[in-house]
Parts: sequence; C-alpha cells; structure tokens
Amino acid sequence: MSSTTDASTGRAQISERTLRTDRWWLSPLLNVAGLGAWVIYATVRVFMQSYYFTDLPGQQYSYLTPFYSPCFSVGCTPEASHFGQFLPDWWWLPYAAISLPFLLLFRLTCYYYRKAYYRAFYLSPPACAVAEPHKKYTGETRFPLLAQNLHRYFFYFAGLVTLVNTYDAVVAFINKDGSFGFGLGNIILVANVVLLWLYTISCHSCRSIIGGRLNHFSKHPVRYKLWGQVSVLNGKHMQLAWTTLASLAITDFYIMAVSAGWWGDPRIVG
Ligand code: FES
Repeated sequence: MSSTTDASTGRAQISERTLRTDRWWLSPLLNVAGLGAWVIYATVRVFMQSYYFTDLPGQQYSYLTPFYSPCFSVGCTPEASHFGQFLPDWWWLPYAAISLPFLLLFRLTCYYYRKAYYRAFYLSPPACAVAEPHKKYTGETRFPLLAQNLHRYFFYFAGLVTLVNTYDAVVAFINKDGSFGFGLGNIILVANVVLLWLYTISCHSCRSIIGGRLNHFSKHPVRYKLWGQVSVLNGKHMQLAWTTLASLAITDFYIMAVSAGWWGDPRIVG
C-alpha cells in the first residue's frame, strides 16, 4: 500500500471528502425524496382501512387495490376477501397483514434497493469516490444486515403474492351478475400485475435460482435459455423497481378515487 493510503481503513488520505466536481449528491437526494414519499403514501393507505374496494351502489364492477390483497381481516368487505377472513379487525393491523410484511422485506432486501437506501439514507457511501461519514465498515457480515441474505426466500413469497394480485386482476373482469366487462381500472390492474411479474422475475435471486449451481450450461439448454432471458430483464431491475413503485401507487390511488366516488371508471365493455 502506498503511503497516501490509511492502512487501517484502506482509504486514500486526502483532506477533501471527495474530488468529484459533478452533482454526485443528486442521485441520493432523489432516492431519499422518492423512497420517502412512497413509504409515507403507502403507510397512510395501508392503515386507512377504507376506499380499498370499489363497491358503490349501482356499480357492476369491483376492483381491489393491491395494498389490501389478500384481504384477510374480518373487517374486509366480504366480496374483497377472495381467500377467507381470519385476522381480527384492529385499527393498527393492516387488512393484508399477512402479505405486506413479506413484500416489505422483499423490497428492503432487494439488491437494488439496498444500494439505493444505503447510499441515500446511510450515506454508506453517498456515491462512488465520496467518503462516507462512518468510521467502521462491516458490510453485511453482521446482524442485522446479515439478514439481507434471506432475500431469496422473500422472493418465493413475493411470487405467491404476485399470483394473488394476478388473480385479483382476472376476477376484476367478472361483473357482479357474472357477465364479462372491463374498463380503465382493468387496464391499470393488468398493467400493474405485468410490471410486478417483470420486477419479480428480474430479481437477482431468480436469475441465480434459474442459472446457478450448474457446471455446464450446454447440458441444461432450457435453463440456459431462461437464464439468458432473465439476465436481460435483470439488466433493467433498477428501472423495474421504480416503475413498480409508481404502478402500485397509481393503481391504489385510482381505486381509492373510484371507491370514494371522486370519479367513475370509464367502461369499455359491460
Ligand atoms: Fe431486487 Fe431480488 S434483487 S427483487
């Protein structure tokens, strides 16, 4: 190591925090704003316990927001509970209290979000070639960050919840009288589910599950082909992470607006 390097930290011994002259702070700032705004919105909505299901008198159609799916609380509108009701109706317990913690953990342990919030909230480091304020660095080798390794298990659970969201999007095409119908809300629900699948499949753990632990790709042509396709999606994981946050919020807000009677759902059929 050269004499300009601190032997204990391995860092360059320069008095400036960084020699970068570009706007390196913009990305962490946008991440704080974007992630912070989404978390506040989602928290308010999850505990609101109203306007999650469009069920106005005279309406043939009904939409369930993904923030309340699957709706397991006894406080849920029965028509919104496609998989039963067994959770108590307490104000501090979200109606979808079974799925939400796992979805939160899936996103919290996501490789991309880790990079984003480590940089934005912990400044560890805030950007490439910008020194972090912390004296010690232990990475993800100790509790609690060691638990980031559980991401692959949350991936399986998130896949199950996305299946439930897909079911919700499909049953939304069936009117209360059993006839087929669709409107703008169906398009939004389907678009959100497609994006959720793309985000879930583009997960680094999914890529590793499909193509990992193989010595010879040539002996596993199907897995090799799938791995190649997932790898292409994986290259868009950051964009999908943000797009799905937006699609979830838009879907929820749209359903809240229709449910509250702020506007009606433009129907195309039925
Ligand atoms: Fe982002 Fe798995 S790495 S969801």
